[in-house]
Amino acid sequence: MRLTERVHHDLKKYVQLGDGVVDATSGNGHDTLFLAQLVGIEGHVFTFDVQLEALEKTRQHVEQHESIAPIQYIHRGHEYMQSEIAKRYHGRIRAIVFNLGYLPQANHTVMTVPHTTIDALQQSTSLLCQGGVISILAYTGHIGGRDEAESIKKWLLTLGDSFEYDIEIPKNTRASPPEYILIRKIDL
Ligand SMILES: C[S@@+](CC[C@H](N)C(=O)[O-])C[C@H]1O[C@@H](n2cnc3c(N)ncnc32)[C@H](O)[C@@H]1O
Repeated sequence: MRLTERVHHDLKKYVQLGDGVVDATSGNGHDTLFLAQLVGIEGHVFTFDVQLEALEKTRQHVEQHESIAPIQYIHRGHEYMQSEIAKRYHGRIRAIVFNLGYLPQANHTVMTVPHTTIDALQQSTSLLCQGGVISILAYTGHIGGRDEAESIKKWLLTLGDSFEYDIEIPKNTRASPPEYILIRKIDL
């Protein structure tokens, strides 16, 4: 199973019809569409990207498939998620999906960077409901990717007792494998 499929497989265990969810990096729209199909018409998807091109690709991808969930396309960095997401969703978001790096087949100089990623992750912890999850796919093969993955792992150590996480790094695949982190906000 590819790591992106693995993320979707895990998200299915947590996200239900009617949930509020966030795609922190719209890109080509695969995660946004998947989330939209999980939450349905009663749910809500917030999808962020700094590139209009990515939001347009996402919109087109969603339109080509059957999806009826309300989707809010936000042309802003995920480091503004707390101010962009309506207050009524704070503490009620079920899943926040980070698929880091750059948009494939597009401008590779526009990519996620450690300080804004960490900022967004920190905000994610309070947007999440109890029992909610943050998934992170960090690619380490491009310039800056390894630093970003290491910064995230350092940040994980600052999380309090109300969070637990798993880190998965596929073995025997390639020299710089992607890293998959799943954070759960514990149901107290
Ligand atoms: C690997 S792609 C995401 C793939 C996407 N999730 C999908 O399903 O196709 C990474 C995306 O992150 C976007 N990005 C870079 N910095 C960002 C930021 N600060 N906030 C939100 N998106 C950002 C890039 O423009 C790019 O489209």
